[in-house]
This record gives sequence, structure tokens and C-alpha cells, in this order.
Amino acid sequence: MNFFFYKLLQDYVHQGHKKQKAVLRGEYALLAEKKSSPRVLELACGGGGFADLFKQSCYTGIDLSAERIAIARNKYPGYNFKVFDVDQSGFVQLVRSADLIYCHGLLHHLKDEQCSGLLQTICDHAGSPAVFIAFEPVLPLLWRNPLGYLLSKLDEGRFIRRPQEYAGFFQGRSLEIKKISFFPRWPQTMRAYILRF
Ligand SMILES: C[S@@+](CC[C@H](N)C(=O)[O-])C[C@H]1O[C@@H](n2cnc3c(N)ncnc32)[C@H](O)[C@@H]1O
Repeated sequence: MNFFFYKLLQDYVHQGHKKQKAVLRGEYALLAEKKSSPRVLELACGGGGFADLFKQSCYTGIDLSAERIAIARNKYPGYNFKVFDVDQSGFVQLVRSADLIYCHGLLHHLKDEQCSGLLQTICDHAGSPAVFIAFEPVLPLLWRNPLGYLLSKLDEGRFIRRPQEYAGFFQGRSLEIKKISFFPRWPQTMRAYILRF
């Protein structure tokens, strides 16, 4: 889907991502009680729609897509956006240099082994205190929510999963999981998987 239509759909469903932003604000505030000006790394930032939650000096957004990074730079001048693949060498340094790391809609674009590798790298190299949050859409049960199931199967991300499958990538680590519903606008839900170090 081209970015214009993707953005229209996102704006309709997520209404400015207000629920996701509340989660991010809360976690950032908790970190800020423990250290001054926590640094933020957004993975798969796309057009940068979350960047202005944070001060320019604290924020780095990365994404595989040069087109989306160009859109983000244009919309949020002064913020640090880089074309960067989370599988690329040098990712470890980015993880080490951040206190709050999050992604919104990345894991459902990655195969299982990429998700496991990403989570392992974050767990191995995140400092303390630090927080990782993954916001991901949920694959509903077909018989309970056929429309949501169909939309999940039509998504460009080929790997929308059930909550227990996402949680499995965290290998038994203690997670907080928050449910985010878009009812009645949209028949799919998301979860925020929050891992605190
Ligand atoms: C569903 S979009 C989400 C974009 C943005 N976070 C949002 O919520 O609007 C998925 C994003 O993941 C990015 N992406 C996919 N694989 C990636 C990878 N290996 N490294 C970095 N970004 C990736 C895509 O370029 C795309 O911008």
C-alpha cells in the first residue's frame, strides 16, 4: 500500500496512536525518574509518527525503507532518522546507546528466527535501567473474529501472530502485556509487550 493511503488508514484506526503514546509516555516517565534524559531508539519508525513524543536530542529512529525515512526527515526536521536494517551490523551499538527501545508493527514483518535474534540482541546488550516495548497486532481466532482474521491475513506483514507466539520470543522473561483495542473502528487488537531491564 502506498504511504499516503497507509497513513490515512492508520490515522482512522489509531486516532493519532493515542493509546500507544500513553504507554510510551508512561514508560519514559518511569525511566526519567531513574536517569536524566533517557535516550530513545525507535525500530522500524516508518514516517516517524512517534518521534515528536520525545525531545530531538534524545531520539533516534531507524527504518529499512529509504522512502519512509525521507518522509520522516521532511516531517520532523532536526530529529535523527537513519536508514538501517535491524539485522545490520552496528545494531548492537544502537541498542547499547538507548534506554527506551520500541517498535510499532515491526515483528509481524519478521520471520521467527529474525524475531528471536532481535530479542536476543536486545536482551544481551540493553543497559539497566532500560525498557523494550513491542507493539504488535494480534491474529484473532477465525471462529471468534473472522473479519479480524481475514484482515490479518491480508496485511503486508506476513507474520501476524497470536499473543503467546510473540511472548515466546522473550524466552520466559517477565513481561507486562497491555491490550490495545480499536473497537468499534477496527476489528483487530494490538498488544504492547513490555520488557524492563
Ligand atoms: C507496519 S510498518 C510500521 C511503521 C511505523 N512503525 C508505524 O507504525 O507507522 C513496518 C515498518 O517496518 C519496517 N521494517 C521492516 N523490516 C525491517 C527491518 N529489518 N529493519 C528495519 N525496519 C524494518 C518497514 O520498512 C516499515 O516501515
